[in-house]
This record gives sequence, C-alpha cells and structure tokens, in this order.
Amino acid sequence: MSETTDNIQVTIDGKSISVAAGTTILNAARMIGGDVVPPAMCYYSSLKGSGGKCRTCLVEVSKGSEKDPRPMPKLVASCSTPVMDGMEVKNKSSQRVLDARQGVVEFLLINHPLDCPVCDQAGECHLQDLAFEHGLEKTRFEFKRRTFDKIDIGDYIKLHMTRCILCYRCVYTADQLTNEREHGVMKRGDASEISTYIKNSLDNDFIGNVIDVCPVGALTDKTFRFRSRVWYTKPMDAHRDCKKCSGKAVAWMIGDDIARVTARKDQFGEVKEFICNECRFEKKEKTDWVIEGPRHIDRRSVIGANKYEEPIPEHTPLLNKA
Ligand code: SF4
Ligand code: FES
Repeated sequence: MSETTDNIQVTIDGKSISVAAGTTILNAARMIGGDVVPPAMCYYSSLKGSGGKCRTCLVEVSKGSEKDPRPMPKLVASCSTPVMDGMEVKNKSSQRVLDARQGVVEFLLINHPLDCPVCDQAGECHLQDLAFEHGLEKTRFEFKRRTFDKIDIGDYIKLHMTRCILCYRCVYTADQLTNEREHGVMKRGDASEISTYIKNSLDNDFIGNVIDVCPVGALTDKTFRFRSRVWYTKPMDAHRDCKKCSGKAVAWMIGDDIARVTARKDQFGEVKEFICNECRFEKKEKTDWVIEGPRHIDRRSVIGANKYEEPIPEHTPLLNKA
C-alpha cells in the first residue's frame, strides 16, 4: 500500500509549519501567527469566493517547492495561493513585499477619505491599521476623488460608499447568509459602487452582519452611529436565548448602557458566529443579556488596547490601594 501524507512543509519568514494539502499561504501563516501573517482586506475565511481582490496579502515565494525550487517571478496573493511542499515564503522579510504593500495602500487611499476623526469605524478599522503601518504621510493623488451621497439601506444600516474599498465581503455575506440577494456591485472600474437594486432595503434577519464584515467604515450601524468612539466603550461577552442565532455576542457598554452589539470576532477580525438583527439592533437593555465578563480583544489595533480584563468586583472602592 502506498503511503500518502497530506502534511506539507512550508516556511514563512523563517518559521516552518506542516499543513494539510490545499491550505493557502495566508492560512498557513495564520496557523503560525504573529508577524508572519499578511494583512487581508477582502479574504474572509467563512465566506466562499472571498479573497483575490484587494492585493494587500501579496507575498514573495522565494522557493516554489522541494521539487521545483525556482522562485515565483511575481508576488502572489497569499489568500488564494496554495502551499507546496518545501515552499519558502517571505512576508515582512521581503522589501519587495513591503514596497508593494505600500503601493496597494496608496491605491486604496486614492478614493477613501481620511475622515477617521468622524468615522465610527476608527479604532477598529483594518484600513486605518494598514495605513498606519504601510501608508505614506501624504497623498500624491491630484485628481478629483469619487464622492457619493450617503444611502440608508434599511432601518438599521447606513452606506458611505465614499469609504468603500470594493472588497465584496458584504456582497458575499448577503448572498450566503440570507435568502434574498438584493445588493451587489454595480458598474465597472472607477464607477463601481455597492448598490441595492433600485434602492431596495436590505431588511432580512441576518443582514446586519454586513456591518461586521466590512473592513472599513462604509457600512455602519444606525443605532450606534456617532454615539461614542469605540475605544471609550467596554466590550463584554454576553449571551441570550435566541431562536434565530446562537445569541452569543459582544455588548459594547458605556457605564451600564449597552451602546452597540456585535458578533464575536477572532484575532484576525473575522466573525465566527454570525448573529441576527434582533440581537444586534433590538436588544440594547442590560436585562436582555447575560453578561459573562470582559471580552479579550486579541487584535493589534486601537480597539485592542487598554481593556480591563479582570472584572472589578462589585462594591470594591476603586482608590483603596495603598
Ligand atoms: S461596503 Fe464594506 S464590505 Fe462592502 S464592498 Fe465596500 S468595503 Fe467591502
Ligand atoms: S486578502 Fe488576498 S487579495 Fe485581498
């Protein structure tokens, strides 16, 4: 009997791991973790067809495989390139990758306004983090930028098309989580825009998840807009009995008030269990939820900083330390 193994050895920035055949470079990097993980603005592990659009995840393959060690001539999208046995990949250790990433960020920011001071996504925006790490100090773009009017899509969601980077995540979310597909990308090239067909509202039960998957502030929660900067809120794991979804969420609190509710995200900013609109938009009383305790935000972003993880016991005076 011939022996088969699906363990493929890949080395990324000098760190090696064995993964199953078919694993992409990005997912192999995520298994290693830390600095070897390329940024991803359009790939979303739970959405079929996502990836391959934004080019932020480009990496250099310096050795193709054990059988064919030639380097790949061009940088490749790590979210859609499967690993080969013996492959060697450079992410942050490649100047070509860092230069390309800087170029990609510059392109993404051609039309994206730098309105972080008034954007609800500030502090948890993937593009803000990317621009902080790889962006230029000023723009070289001299032409007129695209601008759009803000659009209400349904009772709970506002679309700022001006901020959209056309990653398609919301389109896949609407397509794969809900029964009806009512929005998509219309037109082509620099005229492309997210649009609901003849402004139909997106009001099915799980559509609120488009807010969570959007890497920028293009889709915002109308029940939370302009209420607070996210870093002033306290994220708490919370759950409730819900007939439509798992009921497991994060309640972002200001004092005893629930300012917003989102799904729980992992360290890559991806939702693992999508939640329904009722949990997200309609359950804002503390009594609606069982508050479990402070949420650990495992992300290198403003939102991950300075969170108290130990619950302060009730009735403990705050200033009683000697
Ligand atoms: S609205 Fe957000 S999620 Fe949808 S395509 Fe634009 S950036 Fe992506
Ligand atoms: S995450 Fe790979 S191309 Fe966007």
